[in-house]
Amino acid sequence: MTENTKEQKGKFIVFEGPDGSGKTTQIKLIYEYLRHELTEDIIMTKEPGGTEISNKIRQILLDPDNVLLEDLTEVFLYAASRAQHVKELIKPHLDQGFYVLCDRFVDSTIAYQGYGRGLDVSLIKKLNTVAAQGLQPNLSFYIMVKPEIAMQRIAQSRSFDRLEQNEISFYQNLYRGYLALLEEDDSKHYINGEQTVTEVNEDIKKVLQKKL
Ligand code: TMP
Repeated sequence: MTENTKEQKGKFIVFEGPDGSGKTTQIKLIYEYLRHELTEDIIMTKEPGGTEISNKIRQILLDPDNVLLEDLTEVFLYAASRAQHVKELIKPHLDQGFYVLCDRFVDSTIAYQGYGRGLDVSLIKKLNTVAAQGLQPNLSFYIMVKPEIAMQRIAQSRSFDRLEQNEISFYQNLYRGYLALLEEDDSKHYINGEQTVTEVNEDIKKVLQKKL
């Protein structure tokens, strides 16, 4: 488990994975589970978003009309949304001892914009070290589904935002990116998202029981 600064009393737990991985269902289940298990306070948040200003940036990022949005602009907007989110919501809660569960963080930008869209991964990492103000997740869960399954699940969902209108090659690169990131340190945990909701949930809980 990654350790952050001395003044951080809480734990920062991140859920990652491609669209269609079932990540959002799982974070809600784990939030309910930890609310009962822990004596510490807990909040659940998401990226891009989490604060009023970050949500305004999210609207620009996800608007299907923004066909002219440049890849580099996108990277800066994710970083801007994150800088606000970390400063206004995440860090203050961690400093007060909260558990903060976050749906996506820096690794989403590396996987989607770096591996998916082909932008310079080292530039994205540098920019996001600044945006995240040195904050790193104590624990991350990567809920993984193969690109074909992710695409099928997205096709079955009701609406597409700007970012869900991608080719299979994008999802293949994204998947490869997440696998590469998983290798980087042992605070990141692979979870097989192709299982049932209950099985995925049990796998996450097993890691939590061991690590917390
Ligand atoms: P969500 O569907 O999990 O709310 O995420 C919104 C979309 O934003 C999703 O398609 C993934 C994408 N995304 C990026 O491309 N880069 C990022 O840094 C983040 C946080 C999300």
